[in-house]
Amino acid sequence: MTDDAFGTAVLAWYDLHGRKDLPWQQGVTPYRVWVSEIMLQQTQVATVLGYFDRFMQALPTVEALAAAPEDEVLHLWTGLGYYSRARNVHKAAKTVVERHGGEFPRSVEALAELPGIGRSTAGAIASLSMGIRAPILDGNVKRVLARYTATPGYPGEPAVARRLWEVADRLMPHERVGHYTQAMMDLGATLCTRSKPSCLLCPVKPGCRAHLLGQETDFPAAKPRKTLPQRSTLMPLFVNDANAVLLQRRPSTGLWGGLWGPPEVADVAELEALAERQGLAIDERQALPGLVHTFSHFQLAIEPWLVQVDHRQHRVAEGDWLWYNLASPPRLGLAAPVQKLLKRAEQALKGEPT
Ligand code: ADE
Repeated sequence: MTDDAFGTAVLAWYDLHGRKDLPWQQGVTPYRVWVSEIMLQQTQVATVLGYFDRFMQALPTVEALAAAPEDEVLHLWTGLGYYSRARNVHKAAKTVVERHGGEFPRSVEALAELPGIGRSTAGAIASLSMGIRAPILDGNVKRVLARYTATPGYPGEPAVARRLWEVADRLMPHERVGHYTQAMMDLGATLCTRSKPSCLLCPVKPGCRAHLLGQETDFPAAKPRKTLPQRSTLMPLFVNDANAVLLQRRPSTGLWGGLWGPPEVADVAELEALAERQGLAIDERQALPGLVHTFSHFQLAIEPWLVQVDHRQHRVAEGDWLWYNLASPPRLGLAAPVQKLLKRAEQALKGEPT
C-alpha cells in the first residue's frame, strides 16, 4: 500500500464511518475546535458533550472568554477535572485577544506557543478548523501508526515519538486534511483499539505491518516498567542436628500463599526473639549471600541467615511448622528463591562455598 493509498483509504472510510455530528464539527471555528480539543485531551467524548455546549453558550467567542473572570471559567469546567486546562484556556484566550487581535494564529508553531497547546493539539486545530496540512499524534493515532509501520519502542521515548511524527507527516494527504485528522482519531478510537482491534473492518489493513506479522497488540510497545519499590526481609534458616530446616506454611492469601518458607523477621534482634519463643537454642549463626527476587510490583531483597540450633525444647514443629529434611526432602510447595536458599544452606553446612 503506497502512502497515497493510505490517505485515500482513510478518507473513503471517513465518508462511510467517520463521526460528523459532534457539536464542535458544526459551525466550525478555531475557537470551538480549540476548546473541544482541550476538553477532549483527558476526557471522553460523552462527558465533554454537555460541558462543551454550556461553555459555548456562556462564552461564545474568544473575546468573551478572555474577558470572563477566572471563577466563571473554572465554574464552567467544574466536574471535568484537570483544572489547569481551564486556567490555560483562559490565559491562551487573553493572549489571542491581546497579541493576535482576537484571531487564532494560522501556523502550528504559533498555536503551540499558546498555553496548554502541544504539537498534536496544534495540528488538530490547524487541520480541523483551518485546513492547514498539519499532522496530529495523540494516543490513538500513535497506536494506529505504530501498528501500521510496526514501529518498535515505547512512544513516550523521544526517539520513538520522532519516528512516529515522521510517519504521521509522510502519510497525511494534501486534500481534505480536516476529514483525515478526524478519521485518524475515529479509527484509533473505534477500530484500532488497544486490545482486540477490529482489523477485518480496517481500511488500511492491506498495508498494516503489525497485522501482516499477526502482532497487532505488540505495537506500540508498553511503557517500560519503572524501577520497582524495594523491600527487604531477613530469613533465618534454623537448622537442627539432623540437618533439617525449620519452615512455616505461609498464609493462603498474599505472597507465596500456601507455600512453605523460612519465617521472616526484620532484623537480627527479631531473629533472636523468634528463636527464644520457639525454644531454639542458637549454637552458631552466619549470614549467607543475599538474594534479590523480583515480583511484578516490587523487589524483595532477602538476607538469609544460617542458624544452627539445638531444638530439644522446640515446641511447634507441627501444624504450620515443619522440619524440612535436606537429605530427604518432603514433597511440598516452595517458592523459587526458598528452594535456592535451601540449596545454599545445604552447601554451607557441607562446608562448600555458597
Ligand atoms: N478526541 C480528541 N479530539 C477529538 C475529536 N475531534 N473528535 C472525537 N474525539 C476526539
